[in-house]
Parts: sequence; structure tokens; C-alpha cells
Amino acid sequence: MSSESILYSPYNLPCGVTVRNRLVKAAMEENMSSMGNLPGESLYALYRYWAHGNLGMVITGNVMVDKAAMTGPGGVALESETELAPFEKWAKIIKSNGALAVMQINHPGRQVFKAMKGKAIAPSAVPLDMGKHSKLFAQPREMTCQDIHDVCKRFVQTAKQAEKAGFDGVEIHAAHGYLLTQFLSPLTNQRQDEWGGSIINRARLLINIVSQVRAVCAKDFIVMVKLNSADFQKNGFSFDDACEVVNRLEALGVDVVELSGGSYEAPAMQGQTRDDTTLAREAYFLEFAHALESKTDIPLMTTGGIKRAEVAERVIQQGCELVGLASALAITPDLAKKWQQEWSYSGIIPHCAWKDKSLASLANMAMVRRQLRRLGNNLTTLRNPSPLWSLILDMLHRKKMTKRDVN
Ligand SMILES: Cc1cc2nc3c(=O)[nH]c(=O)nc-3n(C[C@H](O)[C@H](O)[C@H](O)COP(=O)(O)O)c2cc1C
Repeated sequence: MSSESILYSPYNLPCGVTVRNRLVKAAMEENMSSMGNLPGESLYALYRYWAHGNLGMVITGNVMVDKAAMTGPGGVALESETELAPFEKWAKIIKSNGALAVMQINHPGRQVFKAMKGKAIAPSAVPLDMGKHSKLFAQPREMTCQDIHDVCKRFVQTAKQAEKAGFDGVEIHAAHGYLLTQFLSPLTNQRQDEWGGSIINRARLLINIVSQVRAVCAKDFIVMVKLNSADFQKNGFSFDDACEVVNRLEALGVDVVELSGGSYEAPAMQGQTRDDTTLAREAYFLEFAHALESKTDIPLMTTGGIKRAEVAERVIQQGCELVGLASALAITPDLAKKWQQEWSYSGIIPHCAWKDKSLASLANMAMVRRQLRRLGNNLTTLRNPSPLWSLILDMLHRKKMTKRDVN
């Protein structure tokens, strides 16, 4: 019976907080902020659906630690001087029916669209290689030590602000090719100083951020890290590197490591790699999580390709404590509730298989974002959206949001 499944059993996190069940809404950037990069009515409407979806935890889409460096148009930013009331309302909505509210915090580093006219900084001045789409991205500048300390301070300040606004915790985004991943990967971090070279040096920024967040926030404030199990690019961040980082995070008392993988260049989080690794068709990173589980006591969560209860349950049986769901919850926000009523209910993850893999990846994201916007407008979601039309609508929306944010 579904309600007796381990998926619906509570779990006590190392910080002492209990998650009521194992199902977590993973971060999805919404690109739906109100003026000033603040949460507003559309985001509130969207998160009301998830708040009532019987999830254990809801992780927000990534919130930027620096308003001048945004991952995309219509993003949310939280800095030390940002007004907290809109964030307080956001946290209250997420928590209104018993789910924990965790804010994902992020810095894009070099993954900044040129049109956004933002700050593109990176450990080394290595531009993105997206083939013919590379020109869409800004050329990054190599960070000074001062820049690195500034970024660390910003992550810590944003975490503190999230706590003040009523969030139960933060998830530090160190996956998917954003700034902290750029430090971790030898492909993007070619520094010769204390921030580059060995994995200890490449992980220094992440470790400093985590230990300072732990120091300034309450003991029962949840601290999570989203980490790539690998870059899935030749000579990139390896699984051995990931094991080393996880060991260090464990020593700092991190509550959960969410395992994902890839970057804009190699979107493994969508099941595509750029080395010869083949990922499972469902629960892409479960094999990595299973291999890691024997080497660490840190609670693990894995996200990617999960849309069926049976698969989600297997994730727990194979050593993870939590299961992350993203795209499937964009189309069926109450999937956790549906599984309780009908165990075999299959969530839908839209899939576009165009030959141009970069374009297909954009269309897959566009189809999901279209659903998020529909929910934000209190409209029903579409089970079978057209990839082309979704891409066109997404481009128009992004153009409008870019114009608003840049001016
Ligand atoms: C529209 C969209 C936006 C996303 N934004 C984020 C984000 O802000 N932070 C993050 O860590 N992952 C983000 N992801 C990745 C998801 O969290 C997840 O790792 C990935 O989609 C694989 O899970 P799924 O197969 O359940 O969708 C995003 C995914 C989608 C589809």
C-alpha cells in the first residue's frame, strides 16, 4: 500500500529537524519574479500548489546572492539589504501545510547570458563551449582573491537573510556548472593559487561557505549542498573528487547532499552526457548515490528522471534518504498525493529528442517552464505541450523579462 511505503515515512535530519516524508520538490528556476527580483504574486500562486502537494520539503528555484549576476531573466535575488517581507510571505506559503521550506542559493559565475549584461566572473577566464550557441554567453573575467572573499560573504549573508525570512534552511548550489562547480572542476578552474589545483584547493570556496553558514545560522537551520556526482565531461570533476568533497561536507555537519550532475555544456541533469557515461533512463544518478552511500554517513538525496513511485521507492531502498522531483512536479504538482491514492500513477516528464542536442535541451526546459508559468497564473498544466511552441513562448517571455531586468 502506498501510504505504508517508506516514501511516506518521516526522516530526522542531522540538525534535529524532521522531514515528514521523503519526497522533495527539487529546485527549478521559475523566471517569474516581480519587479526588483523579488518573489511576488505569480511565485506565490505557483508555490501554493506545491505547498498543498503533500511533499516533505520544497526547495525554491535558485535565488541569486548577487543581483548583478543572475542565472536568467526574471530571477530572484536576496542580498543583505533586500526587503524581507516578500520572502517572509513566500516561506509562509511553502510551510502552510507542513512542508519544510528550503531556499536554494546560487551564483552563476560564467553561466551568464550576454543579453543580461550582468557580471560574468569565474575562477579562470574560460568561456562556455556550447558550440554554435556559445556566443549567447558572456566572456568571464578571472576572479581576484577579493572577488572570491566577496562571493563567500554574499552566500553567507543570503543564508542569514533566508533564515530571518522564516525559511527552514538553504541549499548551496554546487552543481550544474554554476560558480561553485566552476571552482570544483579542473576544466574551468586552472588557478595556480590556493583556490586551484588539488581537490582540496578547488573545494575551498564551497567548504568556506558551508562552514561560515553553519557558524552564523541557528543549529537547527538546515544546510544542504547540491553537488555534481561528476561533470560528465572528459577530465572534468570526477566521482573520486565528489567523494572527497562529500567527506569534507560530512565533517561540517551538512544535513543532506543532493546528487545531480552536468552543466549547460553537458546537461546530465537531463540525462545527456559528454563523455562516454551512460545514465539510467530513470533516476539518472542513483548508481552514483549507491556507490557513494557506502563511503559516507551523510544523508543523500538524488534528483533526475524520477516520475514513478516505484522508482522513487527504489532510490530510498538503495541508500538515499530523500528523493528529488523536479519536472514531474511542474506538470503534476500534487504527484506525492496522487501516489498515495494510486501507487502506479506515472508522472510525466516532457521529452524533446531533436537532433540538435543543445536546442532539444532548451526545448525540454522551455516545456517545463511553460507549466510553471501556467501554474503561476492559476491555469491547468498541459500533459503534452508542443516543444516548438513552448520554445517560442519561452523565448518571448525571456525577452520580456530581460528587457524589464536590464532597464
Ligand atoms: C525549468 C527548470 C529549472 C531548473 N532550475 C534549477 C535550479 O534553479 N537549481 C537547480 O539546482 N536545478 C535546477 N533544475 C534542475 C532540477 O532541479 C533537476 O536537477 C533536473 O531537472 C532533473 O530532475 P527531473 O528529471 O526531476 O526534472 C531545473 C530544471 C528545470 C527543468
